[in-house]
Amino acid sequence: MGRTTFVASSSWLASQRHDPRLSKPFSVRVRMRPHLPRWARNLISIALTLAAIVIFLLSPNGHNLLRLCNKHTLTGTSSHHHDGTTEIPNTIHFVSILPDPEQDFDFQFSHFLSIYAAWFYWRPSAIYLHTNTQADGQVVTRAQNGTAGKWAQSIFTLFNLQINQVEVPAQAGNGMEIKELEHRSDFVRVKAIHDFGGVYIDWDVHALRDIAILRSSGFNAVAGRQMGDEINSGVFMSKKNGRMITLWMKGMHEAYTGGWTAHSNGVLTKVGQRLVREVGEVLIMERNAFAPGSWKREDCEDLFQVHADEPSNLDNYEAGKARLLPLHQEPSDDRWDHTTDYPGWARDWSSAYLLHAFSPARWGYPIEGFHNITPRYVLERRSNFARAVYPIAQRMFTDGLVEIDDTHTGF
Ligand SMILES: *[C@@H]1O[C@H](CO)[C@@H](O)[C@H](O)[C@H]1NC(C)=O
Repeated sequence: MGRTTFVASSSWLASQRHDPRLSKPFSVRVRMRPHLPRWARNLISIALTLAAIVIFLLSPNGHNLLRLCNKHTLTGTSSHHHDGTTEIPNTIHFVSILPDPEQDFDFQFSHFLSIYAAWFYWRPSAIYLHTNTQADGQVVTRAQNGTAGKWAQSIFTLFNLQINQVEVPAQAGNGMEIKELEHRSDFVRVKAIHDFGGVYIDWDVHALRDIAILRSSGFNAVAGRQMGDEINSGVFMSKKNGRMITLWMKGMHEAYTGGWTAHSNGVLTKVGQRLVREVGEVLIMERNAFAPGSWKREDCEDLFQVHADEPSNLDNYEAGKARLLPLHQEPSDDRWDHTTDYPGWARDWSSAYLLHAFSPARWGYPIEGFHNITPRYVLERRSNFARAVYPIAQRMFTDGLVEIDDTHTGF
């Protein structure tokens, strides 16, 4: 708005400059002064001031000032503009590194839930899969034609997936060998967001609502904290070549120890926090925004435990009838004040944009009533995880993409 006003008045001034009545201000002033009333003299001094401003603006110094004003309003208060746009691109990036690039993808129902939710809530312009197998090779064909299971087929055929074959680093810049596949994936994901710009999510991260407001916030990068205050590397977004992602990409090669998080969360936290002081560079979201739970036993239990005393959402479903299941939309604000409307263990996900569902399998925690994320487990709606992702599974079921008795592997 400031810019519009400024340009309008300066062009008005420019047109006034050629007005013959203003072309000889000094002689006018000297000759007429004794006979003029006060208001006229004020008017003339305003005109003189304006004329002086016009002359200044047309001088080289004035040009610089004009340029500065324009730049300031066009770019807001952001001091860094990497690709000339104000938004983080609406592209989603997944990474899947195969231990052997000739081996089939091992996608499960939970992965289909993750990609479908991101596609449904965010309506991305593209979804990328960065992987170490050939984009048009046998492994991709086998995923597409169902040989690698129902969920791989769904993932490879429903979203116009853009497959990007990448080099997987086997060694960090400091000479350390990168053994774990997860760590290789860390290097690939950071480079992907650096090169493309967009939103990265792990396969165990589930979108619960739109994040467009975060992408268009004006920040060049957005990330979120996890339990213990570090920034989590399972969800992050950045403009192409952004400062945060560039510094992280460089820093992770030096910081790599073979340990779990030094090169990932560790460097991201250091770099991300430092850049907050630079206007518009990094927005750090609080823990509940992206990673409300944690990898600890009690948090995994709270998320996945099946509450057998809760009636199953499938109790009233008659197989063979229309594919109708209740919607169970997210409760309104005041619903959470009526404790009889939901079970005592049910969690309010209002403050989460994404649910990073840290898997209990990684640490081998046994969870009551829980084995795998299957369609039935989600559609029965007897756990906090199931309640969070149910709206997506309900849609999949209604659309015929999922059967109640499908397995988690899709075979
Ligand atoms: C799927 O694709 C693979 C690789 O091209 C091929 O060998 C296989 O026969 C195909 N299977 C089906 C069911 O089409």
